[in-house]
Parts: sequence; structure tokens; C-alpha cells
Amino acid sequence: MTEDVTPAVDLAEAEAEVDLPEIGDRTRYDALMQVIRNRVTVRKFDPDYVVPDEHYDLILEAARHAPSGANAQPWQYVIVRDAAVKAQIAEYFVAEQRFRAKAKMKFPTPDYRGLATAPGFVVVCSDMRWVNAFPVLNDGSDLDRMYHENAERILLQSVAASTMAAHLAAAALGYNVWWVTAIGQELAQKDLRPLLGIPDEISVLDIFLFGPPAAKPYKRFRRPMEEIAHRDSYDRSHFMSDEELRDWIRTRRHRVMFKDAAKID
Ligand SMILES: Cc1cc2nc3c(=O)[nH]c(=O)nc-3n(C[C@H](O)[C@H](O)[C@H](O)COP(=O)(O)O)c2cc1C
Repeated sequence: MTEDVTPAVDLAEAEAEVDLPEIGDRTRYDALMQVIRNRVTVRKFDPDYVVPDEHYDLILEAARHAPSGANAQPWQYVIVRDAAVKAQIAEYFVAEQRFRAKAKMKFPTPDYRGLATAPGFVVVCSDMRWVNAFPVLNDGSDLDRMYHENAERILLQSVAASTMAAHLAAAALGYNVWWVTAIGQELAQKDLRPLLGIPDEISVLDIFLFGPPAAKPYKRFRRPMEEIAHRDSYDRSHFMSDEELRDWIRTRRHRVMFKDAAKID
């Protein structure tokens, strides 16, 4: 291959040696955990703050290094800086909020007006045709359907891994973040693609917002370790019946979404 066809590849960087600490050295772990613990969602930002272009680069650099199925790297990030476009996207979400209220979904939908206040605004996209990079038969069989379903999961997990890296990078730079997925429905995508010149083949998966918060952020409830970790076999004492699950959603969901962890028992 000539240099002309691979201009984006920096071989020196691509071949750089992997630099890990001694196994068990806590220094980087502790620094990473500080970022992970303090990555918290806010849904309203300081609208007057302007994100330096360099910060977008630093954040997307983290996204670029995420792992992905078959190393397909099936993500695209559209940075939105135009306040009018942000406002149009926010409007869509406010309409969605109203629709949900009318449809009686009983989901405690957040106040999406805050979207228009986000200084950092990135639309996360993927081309679903990348599922063909994963194990699929493409022969229309039932077996193929099963593989395709899994391929879609691989793709979405890959984009989520990259998105998470971006969120953590933003948190490491001092920003609060907001991960908005309420955009995945085909109808929503049809409305939103033209605003950003996104081709029909590209799916809009979510929006990544960041910036300084409008009010003091708070840490939300996390399940204790013993509730999520299983050693050697699945601990059935943490298995929820349908009824328990329904009850949790009915009585606790809104609290863990919108309240400080200190106020949740
Ligand atoms: C996959 C995913 C989808 C989410 N979708 C939405 C969303 O559509 N709207 C929203 O307001 N928050 C959304 N969130 C944010 C979560 O509500 C938030 O992360 C969660 O309540 C925990 O709070 P924390 O981020 O402060 O730890 C989403 C988060 C993730 C990881």
C-alpha cells in the first residue's frame, strides 16, 4: 500500500509498545477509579461555557482506542456546535417527553429541555451494515437470524465501549456528562438525520452531552458488590422473581434515577 491510500494511519503510533504498570500497582487503578466514580450525569448545564476544540479531540481520542468486535470500530461521532441545531434536537426530545406522558408509559422521563444547554454535544452514530464484519451466514436461515441478532449486540456493545471511553475522558477533564439514548427509534432518526446531513444508512444511536453543571451534581445509588458479583456459580439469592422486578421498577426506579445515593436506602 502507498502512503496515499493510508494517510490516517500513524504507523509509529500504531506499533507503539503497550505500556502497562507492574501487575497490582495501584497508582493508575486509583486514578482511573477516581474518574470512574466521579463520572456523574447531569441533565442541565451551564449554557455559557464554550468547549475548547482541543477537548473534543482529547475526548474522541479516548473513544478511538476502545475495543470492538472484529476490531471493526463501527462508530462515528458528529460534534454539534451550532446552537440552533442543538435547540432543534432538544425540541425533538421535549416532544418525545410529551408523547411518553400521553402514552402513559409510566417511565419517569427526564426533563429534556436541558439538552439545549449542553456546551458539549456529540451525536453518536453507527453504520449497522458493520454487523457483516461479525460471524453471520447471510443465507436467510433461522440460524442466520440468530447470528444476526448476536452480531447486532456485538455492534452495539462496541459502540457503547467507545462511548464510555469518551464519557470517562470528559469526566477526566472535569466535565459532567449525559448519555441520551431516547433517539434510537426509526421515527426519531428520520427526523434527526437531515439536521446533521447524516446518510440514511447511518443509525443515530445516542447523544453524548457534557459540560459544567448548572447545579451541584450528585452521586446516584450503586448496587453493593455482593449483589452483582457471583463466584464460580450464579448465586440464586440475588435472582429476582418477575414480581420482585416489577416491584423494583414501580417503587425504586424513579428514586435511583433522580436522587442522591445518600438519600436511597
Ligand atoms: C445505555 C444508557 C442509556 C441511557 N439513556 C438515557 C436517556 O435516554 N435519557 C437520560 O436522561 N439518561 C440516560 N442515561 C443516563 C442514565 O440514566 C444514568 O447513567 C443513570 O441514571 C446513572 O446515573 P449516573 O450516570 O449519574 O451514574 C443512559 C445511560 C446509559 C448508560
